[in-house]
Amino acid sequence: MVFDYVEGGAGRESTLDRNRKALDAVRLLPRALTDCRSCHMQRELFGSTYAYPFGIAPVGLANLVRHGTDEALARAAVRANIPYALSTAGTTSIERIAKVAPEHAWFQLYVGEDPAITDDLITRAKRAGISVLLVTVDVPAPGKRVRDLVNGLTLPLRPSPAVLADAARRPAWVLQMLRGGAPRLETIAPYFRDQTEKPHASQIARRVSSPRLDWAELERIRCKWHGHLVVKGILNPDDAIRAAEMGADGIVVSNHGGRQLDAAPASIEMLPLIRKAVGDRIKILFDSGVRSGDDVARALSSGADFVLIGRPFLYSVAALGLEAGPDRLIEILSLEFANTLVHLGCSGVEQLRSEHVWQSEPVL
Ligand code: FNR
Repeated sequence: MVFDYVEGGAGRESTLDRNRKALDAVRLLPRALTDCRSCHMQRELFGSTYAYPFGIAPVGLANLVRHGTDEALARAAVRANIPYALSTAGTTSIERIAKVAPEHAWFQLYVGEDPAITDDLITRAKRAGISVLLVTVDVPAPGKRVRDLVNGLTLPLRPSPAVLADAARRPAWVLQMLRGGAPRLETIAPYFRDQTEKPHASQIARRVSSPRLDWAELERIRCKWHGHLVVKGILNPDDAIRAAEMGADGIVVSNHGGRQLDAAPASIEMLPLIRKAVGDRIKILFDSGVRSGDDVARALSSGADFVLIGRPFLYSVAALGLEAGPDRLIEILSLEFANTLVHLGCSGVEQLRSEHVWQSEPVL
């Protein structure tokens, strides 16, 4: 059930699939005979210099993988000097994450039905010292995740008989969940305390999905948030232009890892078009399907300033544990990325350009 929640996408998972195929279709042309003995990977973004041009994407319900995942990812981000974004559907509070990762924590905002909650989340993030706010705009309605429906990973939880049988074979995991009280949505828990202990599913949905979110609301948020504002979930070049015009500092070109609209193009297909549309007016972050250092280079050569990575961080925690997992993943990604840079004849990240992308006939 947990693997399906993490791995799955919307509908028939054609967008999920397409993200990978389209990334694989980006071919980078090597450059021979260049001296690349010194190769640097740092990237400046929103006033910070990060060790690598990638960071950890916001994921909700991360505690389902292992108790303490959000905090562990935040700590790993500090050790590696990369950013970590806490989700509104996070299982650790904003205040706690800001304490653990004061310089590296970003906050991802879901705009729910109640503007008072949006405002309060913004105030909490501000007070906690967070400097980058990602406002997710690609969830006007929840994605239809068939695997979750089949497994009964719904609100409230209705595990299927197969899931219950599976859980019976994994007592350590069940114990961990029971002990940790997971998956408790700690980030937004304060908004339930005055109500019932176990909020009804519709209350939670109203707090984390954003059917009312429009440009006027985004502008209102822009006025309230004086830090860096990034609009997450842009695929349309016209939306990218509008985000730049309304004063966003950045956008994340993303289809939510194929979890929302299962008819959407791959994020990487839209990236060069969006870069062309907005020029250098705003920072462009990219996610959806990045699985290697090569992919990071593919995205940067296709127009991104920075890359976010979601699922692999959860897999790393599942495979190797809370600390060793993300550390090893970051090590693998950075070594692969350095290797790719050298093959492309680049001594630094800023040298990755669209000329590195070999234009062939589309293979999709
Ligand atoms: C997500 N994503 C996400 N995005 C967001 O803005 N808020 C959220 O709470 C979540 N939750 C979430 C849960 C899980 C399990 C996944 C896999 C993803 C989307 C995430 O931030 C990012 O856009 C994608 O994960 C990027 O794709 P990859 O790297 O997972 O392929």
